[in-house]
Amino acid sequence: MSNIAIIHGPNLNLLGTREPEVYGSNTLADIEIALTDRFGDEHELRFFQNNWEGALIDYIHDLRGWMDGIVINPGAFTHYSYALRDAIAGVALPTVEVHLSNIHAREPFRRTSVLAPVCVGQISGFGWYSYVLGVEALLDFLTR
Ligand code: DQA
Repeated sequence: MSNIAIIHGPNLNLLGTREPEVYGSNTLADIEIALTDRFGDEHELRFFQNNWEGALIDYIHDLRGWMDGIVINPGAFTHYSYALRDAIAGVALPTVEVHLSNIHAREPFRRTSVLAPVCVGQISGFGWYSYVLGVEALLDFLTR
């Protein structure tokens, strides 16, 4: 049994109605239910969404000591938040970065992730299934 934090950054609370042609029609609740159905019997999943950088950082700090790893969709913070990057590096918990859209096939500013270098890996472009792949990748990493 692993304790996994699944963190969603800014604007992801709007999933379902936000640019569905880019992000799909599933809501955040749909995604969390799908992850709980898939992994919840064997693992403890904790979900958190916030639009504020500091709230995400505080939440990550509070994971120290009891959480095994993090799956995070940092939203637009991916591309410029050195503070979020430092939080992930600071707690030293294995972290997988996930994106619904393929950030490498979109606008140039989205092609850079300042978080990726402190994550164990990045999954991008598989819609809501990116989260499933992210949790699977993290669980596999934790058994190494
Ligand atoms: C996103 C991609 C980001 O560029 C964007 O700002 C988001 C969502 C994704 O899941 O595809 O908010 O992280």
